[in-house]
Amino acid sequence: MILPLLLLLLPIKIAAEVPAVIVFGDSSVDSGNNNQILTVVKSDFEPYGRDFEGSKPTGRFSNGRIPTDFISEAFGCGHIVPAYLDPSYGIKDFKTRVCFASAGTGYDNVTSGLTSVIPLWKELEYYKDYQKKLIELLGDAEASLILKEAMYLISLGTNDFLVNYFVLPGGRSSQFTVEEYENFLIEIAANFITELYGVGARKVSLAGLPPMGCLPLERTANFLGRRSCIEKYNEIAKAFNVKLQNLVHKLNIELQGIRVVFANPYDILLDIIQHPSKYGFESAATSCCASGTVELSYICNQFNPLTCLDANKYVFWDSFHPTEKTNRIIADYVLKNFLAQFL
Ligand SMILES: *[C@@H]1O[C@H](CO)[C@@H](O)[C@H](O)[C@H]1NC(C)=O
Repeated sequence: MILPLLLLLLPIKIAAEVPAVIVFGDSSVDSGNNNQILTVVKSDFEPYGRDFEGSKPTGRFSNGRIPTDFISEAFGCGHIVPAYLDPSYGIKDFKTRVCFASAGTGYDNVTSGLTSVIPLWKELEYYKDYQKKLIELLGDAEASLILKEAMYLISLGTNDFLVNYFVLPGGRSSQFTVEEYENFLIEIAANFITELYGVGARKVSLAGLPPMGCLPLERTANFLGRRSCIEKYNEIAKAFNVKLQNLVHKLNIELQGIRVVFANPYDILLDIIQHPSKYGFESAATSCCASGTVELSYICNQFNPLTCLDANKYVFWDSFHPTEKTNRIIADYVLKNFLAQFL
């Protein structure tokens, strides 16, 4: 496979400018924190990680690496981002990259509560714990410099809509209209970034929502619509992304010295889904594992007889998450279009 020119050039040029990559969010960026907690939202079993180095399941929701791994590599911070709760790593490893994300979480505390995963506020508590350990290891001056120059990547929100709001009757949907719920989530995002700024972060990337009506799980459920994308969910993702974009604009004005970018994966992912062959894929409507063509075959595990042979032919690995190949395309796009200013 030919590496994009960008990835070949980046590490040398930028290694000094971004000394660390620090990740918050949900399964789009969790590299294994959920392996260490009691929840049903896990992927630490085969065939997850089938194409990861050593062919091992890591807790990443893919067959291989996830976008934040590729981004960390491009910044020269290491080719995988280890999970903070993984006992096989320590503070010395986390010096250049660390992940606090938890699959299943959302901006809303109710979302993380549904599956007993790590709420966003607690990801921040773990980060503060990390800061203390880094200061112990390196001293105040060096640790503070790393924390200030680090790239903070934040990616979540899909679960607030697809696992919480639209699934649970009598819950958030009885308290808020969709628009009100969006505003509620935006306020939590604003507070989160403001708190992160308060404890030292200056370079922040806030990811937008994907075209969530096109996830195979949603398409399978749309049997009346012949398994096409659910437009309503895509419209909500687009509207929410506009609000995130406005928030980013506002924070850049209000928080002196911060540089926040809105890293939007929506357009690239929709293009891949609508024109899979352009990117070398054969299918975007069904996933490699847990094909979702048959109701009840959502679950990706070793007992699912339908797992495909070559994940590179598929946009999606399981009914909710992209394959490594898709993740690499998304990471390249995000680096080129949104993170280039930090390079
Ligand atoms: C979420 O829970 C934490 C911890 O209980 C709390 O501090 C925070 O205010 C809650 N967030 C919202 C938006 O209710």
